Amino acid sequence: MSESEWPQPGRERLIVPAPVGICGTGIANPEEGLLRKLDARHVMMMGDNPALARFPAKPTLLDFFRLRLQRITVKHLLTSASRALDAGQSEKVVLACLLHDISNGALIRSDHGYWGAQLIAPYVDEEIAWAVQYHQALRYFPDESVGYAYPDSYHRFFGADFTPPAYIRRDAEYARTHRWYMTSRLVTLYDIYFFDDSPPPDTERFEDIIGRHFRQPAEGLGMDASPSAHMWRTMIWPNNFL
Ligand SMILES: [Fe+2]
Ligand SMILES: [Fe+2]
Repeated sequence: MSESEWPQPGRERLIVPAPVGICGTGIANPEEGLLRKLDARHVMMMGDNPALARFPAKPTLLDFFRLRLQRITVKHLLTSASRALDAGQSEKVVLACLLHDISNGALIRSDHGYWGAQLIAPYVDEEIAWAVQYHQALRYFPDESVGYAYPDSYHRFFGADFTPPAYIRRDAEYARTHRWYMTSRLVTLYDIYFFDDSPPPDTERFEDIIGRHFRQPAEGLGMDASPSAHMWRTMIWPNNFL
């Protein structure tokens, strides 16, 4: 695509990173310097970033998998959902597995279960969004009745002496007696990371399930007026100044 087909043509587009992405990392916030650079040749990035894949006019869920989610997350979600499907789980559980870490893949990591649940809530059965929200807390607590143990990966991620904070313990306790507990618990059961080089399962496997259980808005995700449309737009235009 030529330069003239992108927004703000002929100028250098400056990017101020999101505070949550750099806060505490030691990466300096370049905002002051970039503000001083503004002139006829330099603008703050707004709209499609030529460095990123451009979305179609009416984005679908799988467009986000193809164009924005980080590769590790795409593989993790497709593998989790495949394992649930192979085990004969319900389509609701399979879709919850497919979406459970969507926030990590393209939006925000901290409290990813809560962000992910809000993101998908307008488009899925309430039970699916609930399962996505509570998988985050339930991950820390074993359930021998289904063969779920505290993840080895969490020992590696957080250290052997890590204890989850009070709000996680509270929410896990709440979830344990809820009527949808097992839906969320099953998400944790298939929530396994594979750090190998094998290719991820094909998204084609899930097209029918998405078609039946994910209500894609006619205007496209992010272009509709749902309560989470802005979150999808943030993934489409992650570098917008405002
Ligand atoms: Fe997760
Ligand atoms: Fe996960």
